[in-house]
Amino acid sequence: MTNNLKSEALFSRAIEVLPGGISRNAIFRKPYPFYAAHGKGAYITDIEGVERIDFANNMASLIHGHCNDVLNDAIKSQLDKGVAFTMGTEVEIEFAEYMVERYGSFDKIRFVNSGTEAIMAAIRASRAYTGKVKIAKAEGAYHGAYDYAEVSENSKPDNWGDVAAPNNNPVVFNTPKSALDEVVIIPFNDIERAINILDQHASELACIILDAIPHRIGFIPAQKQYVETLAAWAKKNSVLLVFDEVITLRAELGGAQSWFDVKPDLTAMGKMIGGGFPVGAIAGSDEVMQVLNPLADKVLFPHSGTFSANPMTMMAGLTSMRLFEGQAITKLNHLADRMRLQIKEAIAVADVPVCVTGAASVSKIHMLGQTPTSYRDHFKSSKMKKLENRLIEYMAANGVLMVGTCSLILSTAMETKEIDHFSEVFLAAMRDMKSEF
Ligand SMILES: Cc1ncc(COP(=O)(O)O)c(C=O)c1O
Repeated sequence: MTNNLKSEALFSRAIEVLPGGISRNAIFRKPYPFYAAHGKGAYITDIEGVERIDFANNMASLIHGHCNDVLNDAIKSQLDKGVAFTMGTEVEIEFAEYMVERYGSFDKIRFVNSGTEAIMAAIRASRAYTGKVKIAKAEGAYHGAYDYAEVSENSKPDNWGDVAAPNNNPVVFNTPKSALDEVVIIPFNDIERAINILDQHASELACIILDAIPHRIGFIPAQKQYVETLAAWAKKNSVLLVFDEVITLRAELGGAQSWFDVKPDLTAMGKMIGGGFPVGAIAGSDEVMQVLNPLADKVLFPHSGTFSANPMTMMAGLTSMRLFEGQAITKLNHLADRMRLQIKEAIAVADVPVCVTGAASVSKIHMLGQTPTSYRDHFKSSKMKKLENRLIEYMAANGVLMVGTCSLILSTAMETKEIDHFSEVFLAAMRDMKSEF
């Protein structure tokens, strides 16, 4: 048992200069965050010298875990040439060629700096292309920190309204009402109600944004029929379909979109395509991406960005994506299947009202006896949140780092050893917590 003196000392400095002592709420933890010292492969070591298996992987951006040798060599090779130029680079073109070749729905790609920026660009491109303004999104879905994208992302029972017409709730205090009014909220995995709502706004909608395994909807997979019905509706009504694959690109060689009989007009990406560096991108058909073309007679969507297509990111991203093909994807998804199976077994053995959702290499544990299929089903009461924190802390004290949402994100650096360690500790946690449900 460590006394955490170094963390306490760091936090007392941090609280003086950072609001709440942190720069992003994702690492918030009481009494203070963990502070990283270094990581290697599937493991991360904090400044107290405690090593844990990393099931957070910087919120799904470290697809190959920490300090992958091939990736580090590539990063160092670029570092020696220079980190940023007011010029294009060959590696940016090579990366774009790779992505266009790999993903069936991409003709052109534009790199940006975060998933948030990718969604912002996708919304603006959709507006520019369609001449319409509103966007539709699922209640509870997180699409980054942008006024329009975050509407009703954290709706609660006391403000979410009728499921047949969910309320438009702001996340940030004093978000302009005009922004809220431009967003159409649809229920997740509820075809009939979603289509009813969309029908009422068909002539005003620029795009529907969809995430096939939305993190803030508890990594509940979107039902195939839901996605395909919405896609068909979008096509019929000249509304663009935007896939948010910021997390889900990892699901298959062709991203989560390859699970469905759909071809998104635009795809927003981030996280893993940066090989550990800040990144985002939008990609889509020639016709839609033409709005960004500075050679056009009329440039509908002028776009730039000091760090867009930064060569360090491009080099790391390209190398990382090349390492994530074929066997690497199959192995990762098998490990995740093994993990979900073992979690279910542990839940049955401990006989606790808990369940696990997820798909591909992302999963979430819910303090619920019945598996949720929608945002409202999965909504956490304060008791559930307390139980989740209890589990997260139990796991952290026994060598496992989870995401603060009780989610688990795997990396290719993991083997069955790490999964089995997780399952063993998880069973012990469930037994320890049984009386608290
Ligand atoms: C599905 C999804 N979209 C968009 C974003 C925003 O990405 P970023 O944090 O890189 O801005 C995230 C981040 O977690 C996400 O999970």
